[in-house]
Amino acid sequence: MLETVRWITAEGKILSRCEEGVDLLPGKLRLIDQTLLPQELVFIETDDLEEIFDAILRLCVRGAPAIGCAAALGLAAVAQHIKAESIEEFTDKVQVVADRLAQSRPTAVNLFWALDKCCAHLRRCAVKSADNMRLTLIREGLEILDEDIRMCRAIGEHGRDLIQHGMGVMTHCNAGALATGDFGTALSPMYAAHEAGRSFTVYSDETRPLLQGSRLTAWELSRAGIDVVTICDNMAAQVMKEGKIDLVIVGSDRIAANGDIANKIGTYGLAILAKHHNIPFYVAAPYSTIDTSLEHGDLIPIENRDPEEVRNFGARRTAPEEVRVYNPAFDVTPHELIAGIITESGLHRPPFSFN
Ligand code: MRU
Repeated sequence: MLETVRWITAEGKILSRCEEGVDLLPGKLRLIDQTLLPQELVFIETDDLEEIFDAILRLCVRGAPAIGCAAALGLAAVAQHIKAESIEEFTDKVQVVADRLAQSRPTAVNLFWALDKCCAHLRRCAVKSADNMRLTLIREGLEILDEDIRMCRAIGEHGRDLIQHGMGVMTHCNAGALATGDFGTALSPMYAAHEAGRSFTVYSDETRPLLQGSRLTAWELSRAGIDVVTICDNMAAQVMKEGKIDLVIVGSDRIAANGDIANKIGTYGLAILAKHHNIPFYVAAPYSTIDTSLEHGDLIPIENRDPEEVRNFGARRTAPEEVRVYNPAFDVTPHELIAGIITESGLHRPPFSFN
């Protein structure tokens, strides 16, 4: 499996959970730099706050669960170098780091969930010495990552039988191994069905402007031996009309209490198209993506990104320099369009209520 987010020790041991007899301190956050895929598989190793902030902002690490894991282990990596006269000062400085990381991206709730979990855990820490607190943060980050790995496997099992031999499955953006600690959310049922020996075709939307579908989903699925076809986003309706698609599965960055879901821009349009063509539309996400504090999806903050992402296609300028651009990175799909939400605890059918 791809090691999208990990902890690397000074001895070079790569960890996804705590292991007996392995010194966790000192260590670094280790990430795949996804901006370079599919051409190059390059890893970033860092314990620098601004480098970690930048890695999340620039989408070197992206996908809601992976952002949460990277933030937790990133916080632990930076905390190793915090100098403080007292435990209170240490805890306050960790909170300042967490607050900075929380400003990197606004939509994926896993970011805030993971940082809050780490800071709360730190405040409860029984042995209040700076070294013990540093260790506590690494352990908590690894616990979040390990939980994410278990979550991916469970989602895979709960969603596997939606995919039968000979089916066409459409997905948008990347909600796979590159977006989590393990098999992904939306792609996990695909890996599980593949493991069960079923052959099927995945139609992966290209996902403009940053091409997560063609650069990342097509790369990781073909690497795993799963049949994948890349289409431009504007081809989805025609491909559905041609009868090639039996179901759609996407991930999510935040799910409101009523089952409305935020996901990569273009997801909402796909859900409308699926409804029109009588194709079931599923969402796969862990409980850490559900924000029960938000009653409905209109309350989910939507990230607006740099206009340059739209004015360019990769490294090439494809729009006039001065043209005005609107670049929302996510949209909200209303729950009425969703046939089921696959979580680690099972497949939820409507009516959804996550209070
Ligand atoms: O902007 P990105 O690449 O972080 O957007 C990612 C998505 O929209 C994913 O579908 C979502 O985070 C779920 S990842 C399991």
